[in-house]
Amino acid sequence: MSDSGTDAAERAQDDGDRGLAIKLSVNGQVRQLELDPRVSLLDALREHLRLGGTKKGCDHGQCGACTVLINGRRVCSCLTLAVMHEGDEIVTVEGLDGVKGLHPMQRAFVEHDGFQCGYCTPGQICSAVGMLSEVEAGWPSHATADVASSRIELSDEEIRERMSGNVCRCAAYPNIVAAIRDAAQGGPA
Ligand code: FES
Ligand code: FES
Repeated sequence: MSDSGTDAAERAQDDGDRGLAIKLSVNGQVRQLELDPRVSLLDALREHLRLGGTKKGCDHGQCGACTVLINGRRVCSCLTLAVMHEGDEIVTVEGLDGVKGLHPMQRAFVEHDGFQCGYCTPGQICSAVGMLSEVEAGWPSHATADVASSRIELSDEEIRERMSGNVCRCAAYPNIVAAIRDAAQGGPA
């Protein structure tokens, strides 16, 4: 290899060490990062942006603890790479509350005691918020009796089916369902 070839290889190695420069919009703020392109969105949030609300359960798309909202849709952040999300609006549980305090879904979980250890709770809450917009948009689920209807009644069966990707090891499920039902009806008073 020529000297210049060696230099190029060394530069590429250096660039690889520094990572790829990307900008992520998280909770309304643009954050600049240099990341290995193989870093998952979950690890970018937790390890690089220090947003520990999003939890790592299985790291395999099976528990839902890492659920965040991307452009309003719920996504398992362990199953997607951070570099794929430049230009997207990412919202984590830390970004759900607004100027008026807790998000209605957060308040409903508190009100209904929808958690015990709380490990799954950020994922449950983000998932529930995304799920309600899917219902509003008329997306049927496996539990929907009439898939042709654009108006879906949010029965407990619908809630359970639509939240089945979020596992709670404490089995707080009855209270989680009650919280989501309440939030869907306008939230706790
Ligand atoms: S940590 Fe992503 S689904 Fe379990
Ligand atoms: S509250 Fe403990 S895992 Fe769900």
